[in-house]
Amino acid sequence: MPCHLAARALLADPLTNKGTAFSEAERDAFGLHGLLPPHVGTLEGQIARRRRALDGMGNSFQRYAFLRDLQDSNEVLFHALVQSDLPHMLPLVYTPTVGEACERFSEIWRRSRGLFLSYPNRHRMAEILADPAYDRVKVIVVSDGERILGLGDQGAGGMGIPIGKLALYTACAGFHPAEVLPIMLDVGTDNDARREDPLYIGWREPRVRGAQYDEFIEMFVSAIEQRLPGVLLQWEDFAGKNAYDLLARYRHRLLSFNDDIQGTAATAVGTLLGGIHRTGIPLTQHKFLLFGAGAAGSGIAQMLLDVLVAEGLDKAAARARIWAVDRDGLIVSDMADLPPQQRPLARERSELAHWHSSGGMAHPDLYETIANIRPTVLIGASGQFGAFDERSIRTMADHCEHPVIFPLSNPISRAEANPADVLAWTDGRAIVGSGSPFGIPGVTQVNNVYVFPGVGLGALVAGVHEISDGMFIAAARCLGQLGGSNGSILPEISALRDVARQVAIAVAKQAMSEGLAASLADSEIEKAITAAMWEPAYCD
Ligand code: NAI
Repeated sequence: MPCHLAARALLADPLTNKGTAFSEAERDAFGLHGLLPPHVGTLEGQIARRRRALDGMGNSFQRYAFLRDLQDSNEVLFHALVQSDLPHMLPLVYTPTVGEACERFSEIWRRSRGLFLSYPNRHRMAEILADPAYDRVKVIVVSDGERILGLGDQGAGGMGIPIGKLALYTACAGFHPAEVLPIMLDVGTDNDARREDPLYIGWREPRVRGAQYDEFIEMFVSAIEQRLPGVLLQWEDFAGKNAYDLLARYRHRLLSFNDDIQGTAATAVGTLLGGIHRTGIPLTQHKFLLFGAGAAGSGIAQMLLDVLVAEGLDKAAARARIWAVDRDGLIVSDMADLPPQQRPLARERSELAHWHSSGGMAHPDLYETIANIRPTVLIGASGQFGAFDERSIRTMADHCEHPVIFPLSNPISRAEANPADVLAWTDGRAIVGSGSPFGIPGVTQVNNVYVFPGVGLGALVAGVHEISDGMFIAAARCLGQLGGSNGSILPEISALRDVARQVAIAVAKQAMSEGLAASLADSEIEKAITAAMWEPAYCD
């Protein structure tokens, strides 16, 4: 406890505040008498008090705002509360509530958390980062707010995502709150409703793009390299092209990854690996259809290709098992301006020569593609609510005993299907995974939270300089082997801390096997990872 802090500063700093749990001795030492009520409480008692307050609230958004206030006033209590009941707390601090929180971020703005690095302040980055408060930072989650979940451009309100993801880094992987830093790169917003909202907290200009944007990002990366060498940086919710460009530009220069591309891929592929044995069909004989081939969809497809090759298929055979439908229909190689990440997914026009087509359209839609290829796995990452319609799902189930159907888009208002409908249309035969929690027994929540905290922890403990594709595949394979209960393919949310630990161990071991990290005995890796995980508790 830093003794030099005045009593009020102690209470005001969420990293030192204990509220009523300050002991009599601490109250004497820091002059806290009178500023606190006489009762000396415990962490458990404080959790019970906050739970009662949460229970009395009318909706999830109010609970989110309450929890954010708590985080900004007492970090230990916030994290102890979150960890005391992960299944109920995660949907409040993260998806699905965080979607509405980003849309309404300006309404509930109270106190500063993390950093807003705005375009007009670009020359001040080094000065801002110089604050000693950031000396301990090990993990950064950064966004420019342009593609928030499936909700599009939320400008500065997108800060809700880095804050939420870092709460999960602490909850699941045990990073101390002083070791995490959410950053919003505010380069304006093209969301007119936000810009015109008098309450909007961001920079009210259209988005900076092109060379100026690239220059701004470069300034940011250089400032981080200088100030926090070795920090892990997670790129989060950047729009498609930027997401890919930034990952390609910086992944070998900075210890960094893009969760929407790589984390989603590992989570979806890991869940698939875990669920595929229920279909009775070996992985290499499945037919995979991606609906929505943006950052998430293309990332999943790329990892699937790698895993199919690792399982023994040659590249051409692996490609022949994957199809992708995007906004203009089935992706075929003669489409103009296909982005680089979609090119490996493009089919040849000649393959469609014998397809049955109801509408005679140049690019078959989801239903036509399903009817013709008869996929066994359908993955939605399009942000298109209700896109998996009854006819498409029933057609898929006509050809397959246990179709694997993952409507992954978040939040619920963007999900391609309600899992209950998918189960009804397939007579309960489908193996269903959803992005957001629907609370339906037997439906797996396919959420990146199963992967990114463990990847970050494993990479940092192993001491790597970059995160390889192999490390993400190791995370996916580990996830696929963990097993679930009550019909779910994945472990329960309450087990997320152990999941992060297991994934971290797998990732660190993979890094060592690739020569990216110094070799350690298995027992030493496990010990180092466990020791790195902080538990929320007050220090004496
Ligand atoms: P993105 O914007 O990069 O990709 C969306 C893709 O869907 C684009 O290629 C777009 O052209 C396509 N699309 C749009 N309208 C379409 C239509 N009518 N038919 C077919 N395709 C269409 O976004 P990103 O990052 O790939 O995310 C997509 C969705 O996946 C979001 O809702 C996001 O929340 C969700 N997601 C879920 C995750 C999870 O853990 N469950 C993780 C990452 C993303």
